[in-house]
Amino acid sequence: MDIDYTSTDHSVSKSWNRMYNKHTLSDDPKAVVKHFESYAQVYDHDCKKLEFSSPEEFGKTLQAEMDDKMFKSQSANVLDVACGTGLGAEGLLKHGYKGNIDGIDGSQAMIEKAKKKGIYRNLARGILEPNTPMPYADNAYDGLICIAALSKGHVSPELLKEFVRITRKGSPIIFSVRNNESNQSYIDQFEAVVKQLTNLKAWVEVKRSTIVQYSVDLSNDQGHPMQSLLCCYRKV
Ligand SMILES: C[S@@+](CC[C@H](N)C(=O)[O-])C[C@H]1O[C@@H](n2cnc3c(N)ncnc32)[C@H](O)[C@@H]1O
Repeated sequence: MDIDYTSTDHSVSKSWNRMYNKHTLSDDPKAVVKHFESYAQVYDHDCKKLEFSSPEEFGKTLQAEMDDKMFKSQSANVLDVACGTGLGAEGLLKHGYKGNIDGIDGSQAMIEKAKKKGIYRNLARGILEPNTPMPYADNAYDGLICIAALSKGHVSPELLKEFVRITRKGSPIIFSVRNNESNQSYIDQFEAVVKQLTNLKAWVEVKRSTIVQYSVDLSNDQGHPMQSLLCCYRKV
């Protein structure tokens, strides 16, 4: 089925086809970001239609894992990596986070949608690639989230090293990784980087759980909805 980015017929199958398609399985971040340039107009609508629950889970996790005083401080700084249209920031605010949120994403159109919500302090455009430093100083953030972007052809697991560099000691680093068959080779690389950072005592694992990414799910992947690993690490 071709991807129809313009249709206002928001049937579940059209939404699913826009969300999960050849781009989801691509090896090329530039092609993936190009897809989101087209997808930006209806992305939020599809997330609602498919009951995308991750932003809610991330809000809950940041609230639980960030120091309470920091969570409620207007001077706290959190970075939303691959922020898209800003659903992650909305999830944090819904749970009572009071500080600043910056975002970075490869797609200008997704960023424009996020900007319109008026909830980010700074938004930057940049396609994140291995061996290219993120445009932030060491220890700049009190927390970091990265929702639904650590997967094949999207954000490389090598970027986890940058997540550690740009966060302050003690900060929660929270991210999800699509955990299904088609992402298995990525997960293997991801686990190797996680192990490397753990062995270097750069971070410690706080918790891992499995979440359902879309409650309305047409993938029928091994008989259950698409799942993600929700991981929280703390910078040492
Ligand atoms: C599935 S969306 C998730 C967006 C948002 N985090 C959310 O939860 O709604 C994936 C986002 O990652 C961005 N993205 C994918 N690969 C990227 C890369 N290598 N560098 C920067 N952004 C990337 C896309 O532009 C898109 O906005």
